[in-house]
Amino acid sequence: MSMNSGVTGQSIADVAYTKYRLMPYDLVLGLISGALWGCPAGRVVDFYDEHVSGNHLDVGVGTGYFLDHCRFPVARPRLVLMDSNLDPLEHASKRLARYEPTKLQANVLRPVSYDGERFDSVGINHVVHCLPGTMHEKGRAFGHLRALMKDGAILFGATVLGRGVKHNELGALWLRRFNAKGVLDNARDDREGLEAALREHFSSASVRVVGRTALFHARA
Ligand SMILES: C[S@@+](CC[C@H](N)C(=O)[O-])C[C@H]1O[C@@H](n2cnc3c(N)ncnc32)[C@H](O)[C@@H]1O
Repeated sequence: MSMNSGVTGQSIADVAYTKYRLMPYDLVLGLISGALWGCPAGRVVDFYDEHVSGNHLDVGVGTGYFLDHCRFPVARPRLVLMDSNLDPLEHASKRLARYEPTKLQANVLRPVSYDGERFDSVGINHVVHCLPGTMHEKGRAFGHLRALMKDGAILFGATVLGRGVKHNELGALWLRRFNAKGVLDNARDDREGLEAALREHFSSASVRVVGRTALFHARA
């Protein structure tokens, strides 16, 4: 099943995730994200295992790597995949066909028109560092997602920080290159700004920095 929540215009981040560019993405995640960001993919899979529910919305799905590797608490979870870009939606929904996911094409920086059942968990993993703007401006996405969540539901994810952490040479090079291209916009992202943006929309929030990556969760 598939829905479109009125996505108009593409950002550079959208164009970066075409089907051709998705292919090497898993290699980067699986093999070098630990070296780049100090937080290996297995650590993020554990984070998914800890927070994912049987009624889950995943935002900015990419290749669906973490949903494919995590353990849902039930055999047949209700799974909705949201992305502003069709290629990741198609790619991830094929990969996760065993869960019969629903696709929702929507830009998280705009209010999401969705009248389905509210969610118990929302994953927004490796997306915040792609979003344009200050952390306060990126935080609008948290408000739009809060509106799709049940009271007491959890939002969680990881994001690579650009400020307040010490990057190694390889990571710094990568960030410079992709920030310059507009694929990433995280030079101003720090732990404090992320926590403040989450607290603006959620009743509680927690941010833990692992290497140069923030692992966060917030309760609606
Ligand atoms: C770096 S990938 C992350 C993929 C996956 N969540 C992971 O952790 O491997 C970023 C994803 O976010 C999507 N994306 C970027 N900006 C978005 C926006 N404003 N609204 C919704 N999705 C967005 C991209 O199309 C891409 O699929």
